[in-house]
Amino acid sequence: MWAFIAGGVTAGVLAGIGALAVVEFGLYDIAAAQPHNKMVSWAIHQTFKKSVRLRAGSISPPPSFTEEQVVSGFRQYQADCMMCHGGPGISRAAWVKGLEPTPPFLLDSGERWTPAQLDYILEEGVKMTAMPSWGETRSREQIWDLVAFLQALPDISPGRFAEMQRRFPPDKAPPASAGQFR
Ligand code: HEC
Repeated sequence: MWAFIAGGVTAGVLAGIGALAVVEFGLYDIAAAQPHNKMVSWAIHQTFKKSVRLRAGSISPPPSFTEEQVVSGFRQYQADCMMCHGGPGISRAAWVKGLEPTPPFLLDSGERWTPAQLDYILEEGVKMTAMPSWGETRSREQIWDLVAFLQALPDISPGRFAEMQRRFPPDKAPPASAGQFR
């Protein structure tokens, strides 16, 4: 019994020293040019998914979204998200290849996440990735409009997306939030 406890404590102390050594001696390669190793990548992604599921539980989404909300979400998406996440028939900006993790395409994110979970991800952002917290610069309404757009996205074909881009070209003026850094 005592040997068992002593073994556990020793293993814990060694693991702690090991983790400190990785930090102190710079052993983990933080270069974005090198992908995370498979285990770290899995751990970070699992942490992200479980954390969102745990924390989005208390958010109540509106019962349904309107076409106006989808259009408003599309306009924001075109201005601030498309370079990283692409769109139907649209690739991501070339420089995005240099991000680790590389931002995913979101064509099916409306199927993989509930509206409450999408709202949480957009409002809060994702630590240690390039995904910003949009709650810093957007109203609650604007965030729900983005959720409305992401929910509609699985059914938006490349042809319809191109049509939306023609009907709603990007605003020439910078977005209202530009320059409002805190
Ligand atoms: C600078 C690049 C960048 C910009 C701009 C950006 N994102 Fe992201 N986003 C990311 C990265 C990187 C991830 C991946 C996080 C991860 O894998 O843990 C991500 C993740 C997401 C996810 C979760 C993806 C999934 O299915 O797991 C959603 C949803 C999302 N972003 C929506 C948006 C929206 C909407 C905007 C615009 C308002 C936006 N992002 C702008 C980089 C970006």
